[in-house]
Formats: sequence, structure tokens, C-alpha cells
Amino acid sequence: SLQASFVPKIRPKQVFANQLQPRASTFKVAVLGAAGGIGQPLGLLIKMSPLVSALHLYDIANVKGVAADLSHCNTPAKVLDFTGQSELANCLKGVDVVVIPAGVPRKPGMTRDDLFNINAGIVKTLVEAVADNCPDAFIHIISNPVNSTVPIAAEVLKQKGVYNPKKLFGVTTLDVVRANAFVAQRKNLKLIDVDVPVIGGHAGITILPLLSKARPSATFTEEEVEKLTLRIQNAGTEVVEAKAGSGSATLSMAYAAARFVESSLRALDGDGDVYECSFVESELTELPFFASRVKIGKKGVEAVVSADLQGLTDYEAKALEALKPELKASIEKGVAFVHKQA
Ligand code: NAI
Repeated sequence: SLQASFVPKIRPKQVFANQLQPRASTFKVAVLGAAGGIGQPLGLLIKMSPLVSALHLYDIANVKGVAADLSHCNTPAKVLDFTGQSELANCLKGVDVVVIPAGVPRKPGMTRDDLFNINAGIVKTLVEAVADNCPDAFIHIISNPVNSTVPIAAEVLKQKGVYNPKKLFGVTTLDVVRANAFVAQRKNLKLIDVDVPVIGGHAGITILPLLSKARPSATFTEEEVEKLTLRIQNAGTEVVEAKAGSGSATLSMAYAAARFVESSLRALDGDGDVYECSFVESELTELPFFASRVKIGKKGVEAVVSADLQGLTDYEAKALEALKPELKASIEKGVAFVHKQA
């Protein structure tokens, strides 16, 4: 028996083993643009989710290797790869959530709108396939300019007769992630506790962090508000410049997108307490699409949180009015793109 006590116990070791308990329901997730800078780390993070039974990876190139690589992680999700337009339908059949990070990223000096000419067509084509093959899925749009690509997706779905505004989401989670990180740093708060709603859209001044609604509540001087707001609005450009021509945010974006996927899957799984900021069809303002906190349930957006827009500071109220013309123009540009092509 003495000897036995020296025999090391051999247990299967898993990364994040605590997350890998068997689940009652599991879901299928597709990533379109899966071999890209965002697609690869996003695939890895989704592969780690115990809520995922199948991970479908689609790209126009290089996706076989990514799938082979990810499939060796000993987590439950089954990984399948799909390449090229002819395999897109099979990639999408039966999936619960489709995430779209396909398209070109910014280089130094570019705005998100400069990507419109290339990415508008990519998003249109991919969403047409979503409409044909999994019209009931949650659709997460990451491809920029989000302020235009989400309206493009909506118009495509309308043309196909399958538009459900509750299930179309522009992914703005990275703005919240950044706001949380920067506020925690500035105010010396415990990161895990910090939650800053970010409203409006996802480009430049349309990104409006509501620091007055930050939790836990903190006081900011006027100078701090200005500095933090500008940093959150320009955080993407901070990364584009640091990467000096090799792309934009990919790792923090994958982290943010994985959080949004996980929240969506928890909602689909019946969790009644799921709130995220997202750019969705909205009646919160006079604009047809607007980012705000939304409650997500089994059927998609259950409610838009209107309380965040009440009692804004003067700074926030002015910034909200100032962002509307740009956001309106970006939305209209997306809608016009689809109608021009029809
Ligand atoms: P990337 O160039 O590294 O990857 C894009 C991938 O899309 C490539 O693998 C490419 O082959 C693929 N692709 C191109 N056309 C396709 C098509 N028709 N069908 C399927 N796949 C296709 O770019 P990265 O860094 O991954 O960025 C992707 C997009 O995400 C960009 O538009 C970027 O602006 C956007 N983005 C959005 C953010 C957000 O907060 N919503 C944050 C950061 C980036």
C-alpha cells in the first residue's frame, strides 16, 4: 500500500476541463472566412466551447489545414472544412449560428468605409447562401464596414423573403471589450466587474461608449471622458498602425466574437439572462439600425435595452446627435448597394 501511494494518478488532462462537462443541448456553428486572421483564432475559441457539437469552417482558400489542425484538439466539437462556392451550401445546412468574418481588413490610413467596395459584395454573396440554406440561424456579421454590411445582409434576406430582424446581429462586442479594458485600467477596477455599454455603430465617431452607465459606477473628469471616448473610438486604428500594413485586430476580435457566439449559444440553450451590445434593427432612435444592449433569447433579440439612452450626460447626448448623420449615410449606402444590383 505504501508503494501504491507513490503511483501517480493518471487522469485525462484537458485544457479548460471545467468547461467540458457534457451538455444537454449542443449546437452547430459555421464560420465563413475561417482561414483568415480572425477566422483562425475564432475557430480555436469556438472549438473549446462545450456548447458546440459541430464547427463548420468555410473559406475560399487554405481552410483544409486549419480544420485538420483544429480537429486534433480533444474537445467535443466535430470540425468539418468546406472550400469554395460549391461547398458553401453543405457548410450551412443545419447550422444554428453563422459567423461572417470574410473580407479584407484595413491597412494604415484606411477607414472602415474604404473596405466597402470589396466587402459589400462578399457579404451579399455569403448571406444569399445563408438565406437559401439556414434562414433560421443567428447571423453574426463581423466584416467591415459593419454599419453598412448589416443593412446589406438585411436587404438580401428581405429579397429572399426570409428576413428575421431578431436574428441578424452586427458584432460590436470588440468595442465593449475595449471599453471595459480601458476603463478598468484607468480607474484601477477589477476587470471582471467592469461593463460599459457602447451604442451607435462600429466606425469612428459612431462608436459611443456610455461611460456614465459604466458598471461599477465610476466618476470621470471631463478630460477623462474625452480621452477614454477617443481611445475607444480609435482603438482599431491603434492596432492597424501597430501592425503596420499586416492587418487589423484579429486576436482581440476573435476573443470578442467568441464571447458573442457563446452568449448566443447560452441564449439558444435557454439561459434567460443574456445581454450583449449589438448593431441590430432598432426603434431606439430614428435610425433603422442602431447598436445598443439587447436581451438575447432562444428566438434572437427579445428586447432592446432603452434605459441606457435615458439620462445621458451632455457630452453623450451631443455625441449621439453628432454620430447620426454618418451612421444614417452608412446604412443607406448598404441598402442602395443591394438595390442597385437587383
Ligand atoms: P483576413 O484577410 O486575414 O481574412 C479574411 C478571410 O476571408 C481570408 O481567409 C479570405 O480568404 C476570406 N474570404 C475572402 N473572400 C471570401 C469569400 N467570398 N468567402 C469566404 N471567405 C472569403 O482578414 P481579417 O483580419 O480576418 O478581417 C476580416 C474582416 O473583419 C475585415 O473586413 C475586417 O475589417 C473585419 N473586422 C471587424 C471587426 C469588428 O469589430 N466587427 C474588428 C476587426 C476586423
